[in-house]
Amino acid sequence: MSQRPYIVGNWKMHGTRAMLAEARAIDRASERLMTAEVALAPPFTLIHATRNEASLIGVGAQDCHAADGGAHTGDISAAMLKDAGASFCIVGHSERRADHGETDAIVRAKAEAALKVGLGVIICVGESEAQRDAGNAEDVVLGQIEGSLPTGYNADHISIAYEPVWAIGTGRTPTLEDIAAMHQAIRGKLVSLYAEAGANIRILYGGSVNAANAAEILAVKEVGGALVGGASLTAEKFLGVIAGAPDEALD
Ligand code: PGA
Repeated sequence: MSQRPYIVGNWKMHGTRAMLAEARAIDRASERLMTAEVALAPPFTLIHATRNEASLIGVGAQDCHAADGGAHTGDISAAMLKDAGASFCIVGHSERRADHGETDAIVRAKAEAALKVGLGVIICVGESEAQRDAGNAEDVVLGQIEGSLPTGYNADHISIAYEPVWAIGTGRTPTLEDIAAMHQAIRGKLVSLYAEAGANIRILYGGSVNAANAAEILAVKEVGGALVGGASLTAEKFLGVIAGAPDEALD
């Protein structure tokens, strides 16, 4: 399994076809920046076009429905994403959990649906500020992992993104010690759920990652990459983040 950090841009609800130029520039530069495995999750409407424009980077989706198909107006199945050119799907992002009431059980069902059709999944977890202040951050995150992570699937296709809700889009990040402690706790949980395979599941950090802090965050033990929102929207910013991948991560 590649030890290179997995750096994934989450474009959220940003991007029309005009933004394909950014995807192209990220793709071109990624060939030179071999220290990281790079991917983008554009909105549904740009998945197919991004796949066509960008041949080196991974292209994925930000969500999928748990069902194979049926009467779910406005929803998109994992098989449709695959057909459009996606190779992975983010599930359980805190914005989906908050805006759409997604529970751990729903997130797990979505992850299973994606894995079943052969997509990789990035399962997001993270505590709120109140939960951290109350000293419950670790319990909350490990509980989300227990509830959201499907078992019995190939662990190579699963990544976790630890994203403290209070760090998303705020410019605030936990201390490196707090990131290390949480990633260590998550690793323990993954090994308890997936045995040895749990030792290889990549644990990404997300929340206000940018060109200035990427190198120090990516160097933290058990940080296997980053899920990047705002700083993935232009090639210039995202390439700055990717440049933070440590050289020694090269295979
Ligand atoms: P941010 O978002 O980098 O803009 O904080 C990260 C995320 O929500 O995935």
